[in-house]
Amino acid sequence: TVSPFAPADVLAPRIGAAIEAAFGAEYAGVDPLLRPSQFADLQANVALSLAKKVGAKPRDVAEKIVAALDVSDLASSVEISGPGFINLTLSPGWLSGAATSMAGDERLGVPRQERQIVPIDYSAPNVAKEMHAGHLRTTVVGDSLARTLEHLGHQVIRQNHIGDWGTPFGMLIEHLLDVGETSDEATLLEVDPNSFYQHAREKFDSDPAFADRARGRVVKLQAGDAPTLAVWNRLVGLSKVYFNRIYSALDVTLTDGDLAGESMYNDQLQAVCDELEDRGIAVISDGALCVFLPGYTGREGKPVPLIVRKSDGGYGYGTTDLATVKYRVQQLHANRILYVIGSPQSLHLNMVWDTARAAGWLPDDVEVVHVQIGNVLGSDRKMLRTRSGNPLRLMGLVDEANTVARKVIDEARPDLDEAIRAEIAPQIGVGAIKYADLSVAHDTEYVLDLERMVSLTGNTGPYLQYAAARIHSIFRNAGMAPDAATAPIVVAEAAERDLVLALLQFGSTVALVGDALEPHRLAGYLFELAQAFSSFYEKCPVLKADDAAVRDSRLALSALTLRVLTQGLELLGIRSPERM
Ligand code: ARG
Repeated sequence: TVSPFAPADVLAPRIGAAIEAAFGAEYAGVDPLLRPSQFADLQANVALSLAKKVGAKPRDVAEKIVAALDVSDLASSVEISGPGFINLTLSPGWLSGAATSMAGDERLGVPRQERQIVPIDYSAPNVAKEMHAGHLRTTVVGDSLARTLEHLGHQVIRQNHIGDWGTPFGMLIEHLLDVGETSDEATLLEVDPNSFYQHAREKFDSDPAFADRARGRVVKLQAGDAPTLAVWNRLVGLSKVYFNRIYSALDVTLTDGDLAGESMYNDQLQAVCDELEDRGIAVISDGALCVFLPGYTGREGKPVPLIVRKSDGGYGYGTTDLATVKYRVQQLHANRILYVIGSPQSLHLNMVWDTARAAGWLPDDVEVVHVQIGNVLGSDRKMLRTRSGNPLRLMGLVDEANTVARKVIDEARPDLDEAIRAEIAPQIGVGAIKYADLSVAHDTEYVLDLERMVSLTGNTGPYLQYAAARIHSIFRNAGMAPDAATAPIVVAEAAERDLVLALLQFGSTVALVGDALEPHRLAGYLFELAQAFSSFYEKCPVLKADDAAVRDSRLALSALTLRVLTQGLELLGIRSPERM
């Protein structure tokens, strides 16, 4: 998909036409290999790759292409350098026109892609368990991908695959029945689910009668006993309160309507197993029903199975995930399915998908992607933990970020109303957490450093929020609304040119995030844009410009930057306060 304003997207078909004109129709559709260049705005490297095929020197190929190239309306110079690079410099006139058109486009150059149905599996915390930093990261990355793909025109179906089924539920249900659903202990599920879980666990380990009851309860749960299901439902309900508190604190788009937990697939697991067994894809091995796939071997070449039914008759995590594939393909009619899940689960997912392919549940035209989530580490470079050594509580992290954000804003803007500071501190704190997750590649590990994340300088969420707030303040000083700045944009100064070049890349950057599923590309783009605005603002007076047309052009340029920053941050799930 192409953006109507991105220089590379506009130039590519022109160069394509020139290649065709120079070398014939058989060369239609050749990639012009446009890259950023040190010496011009863009450089086309196609002559080097084409040379062999057409049997000529790269430099001669470049000359032929340039001779046939018509970019007089776009470029102020076209030069061949080195062995045959074609260097293109965009003309101020084209840049001005493109920026002005972009300002008039409500989509800011973001293409609308051919609509696909895209289920996204993300967040997926476990009932009666604390959410940890890993859950935070899949939640934040998944939510940004959901927002971005929706904005590109796709039908996103959020699938929050919560862990709400399995053997621990016998013990959890019995504990809930013991303490009573309206007890303080029960409300722990809403605020500190790990404690509730620990208490149930301690009883299970120390009280044999309780353990017996718990085991009996699992059997009833699995048999669909109505009173048991009713208690289970309330247990899950209390956990939902906890999840939703986190989601709303984090400004995440997930709602109860997006819950599609493990329990949802319970009644399909037997059919999954039967079908695999009947068709000879799964076989009994040591009493368990297993799928042995080519290519999955462990030590000494021993085959590693995907166990779909344990020897005790229970189903596993893999069986449920096979059912997710079936459901998402057959019921949701998915074209592309994203699993935003921790990197260590890559083997698991690949076995599930290969099994589903063998069973015909995953056709070749449905793309499945593991969006791998790397670990978040503490300053000791180990998995993030609190000082007491327990896994970090997510709500505690959010609270801490918001407290640091409040301190930062109190120091930076003591002149702002107390009420405004109180309102924006959580937007900054949460923006900081989210940006830290989104500004690094999602599959890499990173060290969480709260002080750095919340800083107003450097590659941080608050820095970008501050850049947007600063533009709002320009318009407050001008006594006008940003959307009233609709004058033509005229590119004259170098800093204006750099800013416009950055702005024009927005649409293609968002499209790239949708294709590559890499929100950090948008984060990096916005950081560069904010820096380009900063140098523009330093070098080019806006309100104090001598000439009225220049002032209006710069106001329009500022307003366009504000829209791109705000829209871009929104796709990352980050708010842009008007003052900070
Ligand atoms: N609940 C799991 C966990 O906490 C994540 C589930 C991910 N989704 C899936 N379809 N397996 O690790």
